[in-house]
Amino acid sequence: MWRANVLTIFPDVFPGPLGASLAGKAMAAGAWSLDVPDIRAFASDKHRSVDDTPAGGGPGMVMKADVLGRAIDAAATDQRPRLLLSPRGTPLTQLRVEALASGAGVVLICGRFEGIDERVIAGRSLEEVSIGDYVLSGGEIAAMVLIDACVRLLPGVMGAPASRAEESFTEGLLEYPQYTRPQLWEGLSIPEVLLSGDHGKIAAWRRTEAERLTRERRPDLWAAFLSRFRSGSRTG
Ligand SMILES: C[S@@+](CC[C@H](N)C(=O)[O-])C[C@H]1O[C@@H](n2cnc3c(N)ncnc32)[C@H](O)[C@@H]1O
Repeated sequence: MWRANVLTIFPDVFPGPLGASLAGKAMAAGAWSLDVPDIRAFASDKHRSVDDTPAGGGPGMVMKADVLGRAIDAAATDQRPRLLLSPRGTPLTQLRVEALASGAGVVLICGRFEGIDERVIAGRSLEEVSIGDYVLSGGEIAAMVLIDACVRLLPGVMGAPASRAEESFTEGLLEYPQYTRPQLWEGLSIPEVLLSGDHGKIAAWRRTEAERLTRERRPDLWAAFLSRFRSGSRTG
């Protein structure tokens, strides 16, 4: 079973959307498990403090190393990756998600306030992972994003494995446009080729569209795709 531990000071927000739809059904079926310890339970003072003022001054509060260290030690007793959700981290990609989904699970640490005491990152071998170049108020939503992306890749979770093979990022391209009935909607029709029944032509049209969308919208992905295509490998 793929296991996710999420360390947070807001355990009540879980499972949230992870309890619905594909992820929720997969959890109920035992494909994955979620354990959400409350970091506050590892505080040592009567106020159950998890944060303190920043050394050197400045705004906000910083999550305490001693409290977090104890929380991590209690949760991470195996070899699963320990990931700190952080805007400073390595951007999360589909390739990384695939690697995480094929492992035993993850231990995720959710920051709050101005972040966490830097010493915990080295002291507990945390890897910083970002879900994008913007700042959230806490790591909980980022943790849900990471878990959702992993869980849908677990064996048996998605209905049709073929849908995964063609979706965005799998081949380093964005996905082609999708249509369904009605055939005509507000004067707009489904592209003729998709109604032709010619699977070769349909595949070629989809590939051309996937390449066009990637080239137009994501020059960074397009450049990476071209260089992988030329070297004949998929490395990232
Ligand atoms: C307000 S943020 C702290 C931002 C920090 N002071 C900085 O400037 O890098 C609080 C917490 O939200 C989470 N967080 C914010 N943005 C994130 C992102 N883009 N990806 C992952 N986690 C994020 C992290 O856990 C972070 O410790």
